[in-house]
Amino acid sequence: LPIQAPNLSECQTSGTSSGNNCCPPYSATILDYKFTPTGKLRVRRPAHKVDEAYLAKYKKAVELMRALPADDPRSFVQQANVHCAYCDGAYDQVGFPGLELQVHESWLFFPFHRLYLHFHERILGKLIGDDSFALPFWNWDAPDGMILPRIYTDPSSSLYDPLRNPAHQPPEVLDMDLDDGDAPTRQKQIERNLSLMYRQMVSNAKTTPLFMGLPYRAGGNLKPGAGSMENSPHSSIHIWVGDPSQPDGEDMGTFYAAGRDPIFYAHHANVDRMWQVWKKLSPRNVDFTDRDWLDTSFLFYDEDARLVRVKVRDCLEPEKLGFTYQEVDIPWIKKRA
Ligand code: C2O
Repeated sequence: LPIQAPNLSECQTSGTSSGNNCCPPYSATILDYKFTPTGKLRVRRPAHKVDEAYLAKYKKAVELMRALPADDPRSFVQQANVHCAYCDGAYDQVGFPGLELQVHESWLFFPFHRLYLHFHERILGKLIGDDSFALPFWNWDAPDGMILPRIYTDPSSSLYDPLRNPAHQPPEVLDMDLDDGDAPTRQKQIERNLSLMYRQMVSNAKTTPLFMGLPYRAGGNLKPGAGSMENSPHSSIHIWVGDPSQPDGEDMGTFYAAGRDPIFYAHHANVDRMWQVWKKLSPRNVDFTDRDWLDTSFLFYDEDARLVRVKVRDCLEPEKLGFTYQEVDIPWIKKRA
């Protein structure tokens, strides 16, 4: 059976492993989510290539989100808490008291994060009155994108987060393979990253569970197994961005705090883009058809602060959710390692 959307009235305010209260504001009314197309597609673009006009809008939107009262489910704090609640033990599985609900290290990884970003993006757009607003994606799979995107590094901007690794500021090249230590040159590090991309998207991703993660059903134990992309570079980039002098690599390096860094959403936009790219690489690369996956549901607050229930089956095509990715080069595809 599919895992059901959590019961918000049973959210554990102190039950998280980090000891934080990540519970969302309560609402007794839950709507079944119906996406209403506006005719305008939100086109997500590479973060290192956005223009000034876009950047101004994006900064404004995040500024407004940060300014919302902390008990508004659309506020920046509450948006970060969504991630914390779904991965730090705030919810038990409905019908299984004591059994933690966790969206990482299983087949829920891609759909949960796609939906989380979808609502986050719509809220940002609503705040600036732009229903075609799109998040940027951190294009870390291409050499030009393999640094922390500069739009996030201005300390006076709403996109800044002080809790990051000071040694990993631009122009330091991203190290996707933390185990291997520092490469001798920038070029070598870029080559290593491209080979890692090839391994995780092709060699280690030949079946749906290998790429997307293992089945996780009602009553099942958390973290049955992550897919290749979630393991690396997804997780290694989280750790690379976070501040190693903080107890748990906050913000990006730990589940409860990751969503407090605006870069989280650009990082996950590229992870989400990789799901799309993978499906186009080979006819064998297809989504699960298992109903337990398709019927898994989550709760989110939408741009009008309404609590909605949404199913995995409703998020499989980005265009049906009103967004898409600008087409860019896939440089790692020739990097068989
Ligand atoms: Cu929910 Cu990148 O982690």
